[in-house]
Amino acid sequence: MLRRLIYISRSIIGADPKEIEAILSSSIRCNAQLEVTGMLWANGENFAQVIEGDPDNVGRTMGRIRADRRHTDIDTKSLGA
Ligand SMILES: Cc1cc2nc3c(=O)[nH]c(=O)nc-3n(C[C@H](O)[C@H](O)[C@H](O)COP(=O)(O)O)c2cc1C
Repeated sequence: MLRRLIYISRSIIGADPKEIEAILSSSIRCNAQLEVTGMLWANGENFAQVIEGDPDNVGRTMGRIRADRRHTDIDTKSLGA
């Protein structure tokens, strides 16, 4: 079974390329370990991300994302997968 979700959040870091790079490199590493895939979009004000994978691993990943202080106001929606 696959779980797929999407969220939108508000960036605390603007479009700082160093911060975005740091998010990307840890995301790529962690997501590969958990076989979670997805897409991250950023415009300096907001992030939007799709995450897809094993339900437990998507939950774990979302826990890390929620705990990250570089964004706030995370609004999540589950999508049929
Ligand atoms: C916009 C945004 C997107 C993120 N996406 C992911 C993600 O896809 N996977 C993940 O594991 N963590 C994601 N995170 C969480 C952070 O990258 C988190 O700091 C990291 O997973 C912690 O790992 P590390 O401290 O071992 O590098 C995201 C955080 C933010 C702010």
